[in-house]
Amino acid sequence: MRMRKKKHTEDRILACESVNITNPEEYMGKWHELCGGRKLCLEIGCGKGSFVYGMSKKHKDDRFFVAMEVVRDVIMLAMEKITADEEIDNVRFIAGDARDLPKFFAPGEIDEIYLNFSDPWPKSRHAKRRLTYRAFLEIYKNLLAPDGVLYFKTDNRPFFDFSLEEFPEAGYELSDVTFDLHNSPYNADNVVTEYEATFSARGFTINRLVARPKR
Ligand SMILES: C[S@@+](CC[C@H](N)C(=O)[O-])C[C@H]1O[C@@H](n2cnc3c(N)ncnc32)[C@H](O)[C@@H]1O
Repeated sequence: MRMRKKKHTEDRILACESVNITNPEEYMGKWHELCGGRKLCLEIGCGKGSFVYGMSKKHKDDRFFVAMEVVRDVIMLAMEKITADEEIDNVRFIAGDARDLPKFFAPGEIDEIYLNFSDPWPKSRHAKRRLTYRAFLEIYKNLLAPDGVLYFKTDNRPFFDFSLEEFPEAGYELSDVTFDLHNSPYNADNVVTEYEATFSARGFTINRLVARPKR
C-alpha cells in the first residue's frame, strides 16, 4: 500500500501500546492465553484495519484477532481505529512481515488465517513474493491448527487463478470458491476491506476461496 509519509508515526504507534505487540516472539505457544477461549485468527496485510475492525465487532465472543502489517504508517492507522473504540478487547497488532511468522507462532497455534487483497505481484519473476506462493502456504499450513482454515479474497483474477493452482499443490483442499463473492451465498458473512470497497465500486468482481490443509 503506497501512502504519503505520515508525521509522528512512531509517537502515534506508541500511543497505541495497549494493542501493539512489540515482542511477538515471546508469545509463541502462548497466544491462546490472550484469547479467553476464543479462536485465534490472524489477518496478514491488514492495511488500515477496516476488516479487522468489522470482524472484531461481529465476533466479539468467539474470535480473537492478531492483525499483521509490514508498513508502519499503515498499521498505525489500523491501531488508531481499534483503540478509538473502547468496546473492542479482541484485537492485537504485529508490525511485521509474514516471512517472520514462524518466529512468532507455534505449529498448530492459529485457528484461522485471512489474506485480503494481498499484493498480486503480477510479474512472474516476482511470484515468490505473492502471499499465496507455495513457500508462504507451507508456513501457514504448519501454523494452522488441525482443523484450521484460511480465507483468501482478491479482485485480481490472474492472482486468484495462480492461487487456485498453488493451494492444492501445497496440500490444501479448496471449498466455497467464487468469482463473484458479492453475488454469492457467502456474501452474507462477508466483512468488506478498504480495497474491496474501492475495487467493487469500480466494477470489479471479488474472487474468494476457503482453503484447509489436508491432514
Ligand atoms: C493491497 S493492500 C490490502 C490491504 C487490506 N487487506 C485491504 O484489503 O484493504 C496489501 C497490504 O498487505 C501488506 N503486506 C504486503 N506484504 C506483506 C507481508 N509480507 N507481511 C505483512 N504485510 C504485508 C501491504 O503493506 C499492504 O498494506
